[in-house]
Amino acid sequence: MAEKVIINYKGKEYDLPIITGSEDEKAIDISSLRKDTGLVTLDRGFKNTGSVTSNITFLNGEEGILRYRGYPIEDLAEKSTFLEVSYLLIYGNLPNEIELSKFTNDISSHTLVHEDVKSILDGFPSKSHPMGVLSSLVSSLTAFYPKSLDPNRSKEEINGTIIRALAKLPTLAAWSYKNRMRQPVVYPDNSLNYCENFIRMMFSLPTVGYEVNPVVAKALDKLLILHADHEQNCSTSTVRMVGSSHASLYTSVSSGIAALWGPLHGGANQAVIEMLENIRESGGDIGIFIDKAKDKNDPFRLMGFGHRVYKSFDPRATIIKKAADDVLSQLGINDPVLEIAMKLEKVALNDDYFISRGLYPNVDFYSGIIYRAIGVPKDMFTVMFALGRLPGWISQWKEMRENHDPIGRPRQIYTGPTLRTYTDINNR
Ligand code: ACO
Repeated sequence: MAEKVIINYKGKEYDLPIITGSEDEKAIDISSLRKDTGLVTLDRGFKNTGSVTSNITFLNGEEGILRYRGYPIEDLAEKSTFLEVSYLLIYGNLPNEIELSKFTNDISSHTLVHEDVKSILDGFPSKSHPMGVLSSLVSSLTAFYPKSLDPNRSKEEINGTIIRALAKLPTLAAWSYKNRMRQPVVYPDNSLNYCENFIRMMFSLPTVGYEVNPVVAKALDKLLILHADHEQNCSTSTVRMVGSSHASLYTSVSSGIAALWGPLHGGANQAVIEMLENIRESGGDIGIFIDKAKDKNDPFRLMGFGHRVYKSFDPRATIIKKAADDVLSQLGINDPVLEIAMKLEKVALNDDYFISRGLYPNVDFYSGIIYRAIGVPKDMFTVMFALGRLPGWISQWKEMRENHDPIGRPRQIYTGPTLRTYTDINNR
């Protein structure tokens, strides 16, 4: 017999079906609740609300499991490449050699952006945060590719938009940094792979020779794989929500970038290094900051600790911690801020406040450390996250459209004033 939940409201019983996922996750389907009973559900921050059914990413926060399309993140991080993982997320299966080669070539042949993008870039003040610039530039792609606005395009045309998004984001990301530095932009070099090309566009100057360090390129590729998707997080839900109104992929991704920017989401990696620098500048006493984080009257939190869904450990953090150790030793980095990070991690992992609340270092704690070690400036950290998350956003947007999901429109419980009588301004 099909499983169901029975609710009793005002003396009457209502059956609500149970939906079971392929990993035996269960949900109460409440879609008929309001029609039958007049009730809505209230769940601030959607902490216990499934907004979609999805075939893309499986995550079990209690057991620390993360899989893209069924493949464990540990295997993908160790054995595959970011473009292979992007293909997997977007099209559902690992590519064979011919498929991967075509995908890679398609991306390589679209890395250039329209010359007019440079005029838009020039309009931004040099101190602009690169995330704001990136979000605007991605949205501006609708102006260069107006057909992307048509929600009824063919599958092939939509695929063209997907390829362009993947191909152009590294160029736009590197250029948003060049704007901040007031340096001339560097054009893509399509003989390089995805990460090498981005690193060169970001760190080199047009007239000076530049060799991409393979240790840095490999570390970045791994970081991008670890960030590639994370089911219905804040930015991905934003991408799906915006896309649910049939807005274009570029606009939806631009909104995802904006959502990712905040310090409680992707901006945490920047906040981690700022916090570590702050600890160092104020004398390096970790205990003071641990006490501040534990004090209910102090808004301070240990950035890079805690996660909405992982309450035992973040599997990405385990992989990235090892990658951070490798990068630091291979590059021979000796950085006092990174020493503070290691001490802080040790103290917090042994403190009952953090243990009892399931607060462990998350992926952003270590990604900030790697970015700092490979010379990425702080306000570019979240941009790197956006580069990694792009295939996830694309696959979720594509799935939403292919499933014909309805426009996202939550309900609310109104708590404001009841009916009031308008009074003329002279009588208030
Ligand atoms: N430092 C100190 N205390 C914390 C922290 C922290 N970083 N995170 C949570 N807590 C405490 C809360 O005060 C609360 O304590 P209480 O039960 O005594 O009231 C308890 O742990 C639960 O915290 P919530 O805020 O309810 O947890 P939630 O799941 O809503 O938040 C979040 C998760 C936003 C990630 C939070 O842990 C946080 O702010 N962390 C720091 C920012 C960060 O690193 N963000 C990156 C997330 S990963 C990502 O986006 C890729």
